[in-house]
Amino acid sequence: MNMRVKRMTGILIGFLTILLLGDPRFQSSLADKILPASRSLAAGASTIAGCLAPAKARTAFPGSSEYQSARTVFNLRYKYAPAAFVFPTTVAQVQNAVGCAEQLGIGISPRGGGHSYEDYSLGGRDGVIVVDMTGFTDISYNKAAGTVRVGSGFRLGPLKLALWNLGKVTVPCGVCPSVGVGGHALGGGWGFVSRKFGILSDSIVEAQVVIANGTTVRANAIENVNLLWSLKGAGANSYGIVSQFTFKVHDVSATMTHFSYTFLKSQQAQTVKAFQIWGQVAVAEVTTSLYLDPSGGNNFYGIYMGPSANLNAVLKAFMDNVPAPSNQTVIETDYITTVLIDGGFSQNADPSVLNLHSFTYPTATFKAKSIIVKAPGFSGDGIKTFVNSLQAGPATSYFIFDLFGGSASVINQIAPGDSAWVHRDALFSIQMFTYWQNNPSQSSSDITFIDNLWSAVRPYASSEAYQNYIDQDMPLSAYYGSNLNRLISEKKIWDSNNVFNFPQSIPVR
Ligand SMILES: *[C@@H]1O[C@H](CO)[C@@H](O)[C@H](O)[C@H]1NC(C)=O
Ligand SMILES: *[C@@H]1O[C@H](CO)[C@@H](O)[C@H](O)[C@H]1NC(C)=O
Repeated sequence: MNMRVKRMTGILIGFLTILLLGDPRFQSSLADKILPASRSLAAGASTIAGCLAPAKARTAFPGSSEYQSARTVFNLRYKYAPAAFVFPTTVAQVQNAVGCAEQLGIGISPRGGGHSYEDYSLGGRDGVIVVDMTGFTDISYNKAAGTVRVGSGFRLGPLKLALWNLGKVTVPCGVCPSVGVGGHALGGGWGFVSRKFGILSDSIVEAQVVIANGTTVRANAIENVNLLWSLKGAGANSYGIVSQFTFKVHDVSATMTHFSYTFLKSQQAQTVKAFQIWGQVAVAEVTTSLYLDPSGGNNFYGIYMGPSANLNAVLKAFMDNVPAPSNQTVIETDYITTVLIDGGFSQNADPSVLNLHSFTYPTATFKAKSIIVKAPGFSGDGIKTFVNSLQAGPATSYFIFDLFGGSASVINQIAPGDSAWVHRDALFSIQMFTYWQNNPSQSSSDITFIDNLWSAVRPYASSEAYQNYIDQDMPLSAYYGSNLNRLISEKKIWDSNNVFNFPQSIPVR
């Protein structure tokens, strides 16, 4: 993958793990989750087909070519074999699939874009019914209310393009256009206008959800308020299947400036230091990332929601702390062009290229981790430890710092208990990514490298991690912190039989 592609893969989501077969820590709890004593053993294909048939949704079962192609997901590391795929186009068909999973005692997993880092979109184990939501792409913009209603099968590129065309508005969300809005919104959803408008889950006004007993409920500020609270950060396949969202939209009609500054390998520690100093004081109109890799990649880039004439002032506290960049690009443009650039397209491309409905980038075999660093940044020798560890890594690894916080950031102005998404004092998150495309023998050394790097920097960072970069090694407390107990209470209310589960779902206990 070239650097652009790597950056993109970096800004993906998690939707929904791995059954750690052979790992005694997980075996008993997973067995409880998947096969509760009160249910029958996993049903055969004909039983499942018979149960799904009355709803008349398109389905795919093992042995068919459609089943084979439907199994393709972003991370090729796991090759889970679902019991069946269902491709619903109506809520009634989703209700039927949920009913069948409940009745037959088998797992169910909604899938949007299929980008989950642990392939939870296939359930994170074999034998589940995957409910592919890509048929849910209705959209209706309510200009007066400043909201948009969208099917949960939308991908981010088509969604941003549609909103731009409808009224030069957007929802704050990630850069990879093929990521599905469902998992992204339900686990947070950070992107280059998030310091101004919040993460995507902050913009959810309402969700329409098929819950465990097969009924459909609305969760908003008046009805099922606690369900909405849970969905905003912990919503991926723990409480139900969301078929539709209503989001608040945000005006992006103003001039925007896309910028990218490149530095040398020997300057990696300096750019990290400058990033964390500047990030604390940066205005809300700017959101940035810092990309680093062992080959020397050292790139600071982002979007300023204003004219380029202001950029030097906006970035001053960063630039004052770094040497002159070795290369730079500053483009004053409009919002949709920044979406093209960050999506890996030419700035001159026709925006319709965003209207894609499959993976934009090659799928890969990878392991990803993340860690959240709070203000004022890495403590003590954290920067030195981080940079020394990364420079000793394989060329097929990279690291992306995403600026979440700083005192002006809207993300940090929401209380940790206001929604399930708890990381309100994050200064930045670091995504750690290593891949070994077509070279399985590389896997164990790569995984050891990334695990060791994470452990080395952990004492200088925090115990938190970002749930949209889901990682089987993390405890749920890393993702939900002080909100975890409330999430477990809500799980008991909405799904006491644990119909919706994956290896890192919210448990009933
Ligand atoms: C399904 O669960 C919801 C929420 O607990 C409840 O309001 C509704 O009455 C239940 N419906 C049925 C048919 O059990
Ligand atoms: C500098 O950036 C421009 C625009 O991205 C690129 O075309 C050029 O190759 C870069 N030059 C160097 C020396 O990296």
